[in-house]
Amino acid sequence: MNLILLGPPNAGKGTQAKNLYADFQIPQISTGDILRKAVKEGTELGKIAGPLMAAGAYVPDDIVIGIVEERLKQPDCAKGFVLDGFPRTPPQADALDRMLAKNGKKLDAVVSLEVPHAKLIERGSGRRTCPADGSVYHVYQNPPKQAGYCDKCGAGLIQRDDDHPEVIEKRLKKYDAETSPLKDFYAKKGILKSIDGVGSPEGIYAEIKSALGKS
Ligand code: AP5
Repeated sequence: MNLILLGPPNAGKGTQAKNLYADFQIPQISTGDILRKAVKEGTELGKIAGPLMAAGAYVPDDIVIGIVEERLKQPDCAKGFVLDGFPRTPPQADALDRMLAKNGKKLDAVVSLEVPHAKLIERGSGRRTCPADGSVYHVYQNPPKQAGYCDKCGAGLIQRDDDHPEVIEKRLKKYDAETSPLKDFYAKKGILKSIDGVGSPEGIYAEIKSALGKS
């Protein structure tokens, strides 16, 4: 299965991509995670991306397209992939179509998680992430066993720079203006599956599987 998980910041794309991986062993390709790793490692890419991400802006299309093109060439993508956070703009969507066509592949579905703004701000403000292994928690909805520490590796949890309410607002505006129109683009291709992203993560995952004909 070749999938895109579309949805505004904090809609639960990463949470659901991990469920899809556990069930179908198709890798999650999160451009946000790749960029955050580059920022942490202080690479040239990280130096460009870091300030843009912290401000809630997008990283330039050509950079992100190059990252995804390289990642899709890896052997673990041969049986499918879940793109999480890409594409985010019409040029990125066009580039994805071209790179898939070049390799004789196509998208099977684009799952769009629909969540109202107020909930997105609540989810983002309460998210805590593990800087060591990438695990994601929420202070109320999905708390770690010991407050502030990762259940899996014990590292101290952090709040992402872009998870402060004023930056979340900027990210939401950016999504509405530049990324939300991609829903029409994929609806016209007949592959858009809109899912209500409010409810328990397990219930939402069941809806996703059903929409993909996998329940
Ligand atoms: P990225 O990391 O992609 O951020 P995002 O799209 O804003 O999405 P998030 O990772 O914030 O949220 P999510 O939908 O994965 O939700 P999650 O499952 O964690 O990108 C970051 C930045 O990188 C961008 O702003 C941009 O600067 C740059 N970038 C990345 N890709 C780019 C691109 N293609 N082009 C240009 N720039 C790019 O869940 C959120 C919280 O809610 C968690 O605490 C979770 O536990 C909780 N939760 C999840 N599901 C539920 C539920 N059902 N009920 C209650 N709580 C829930």
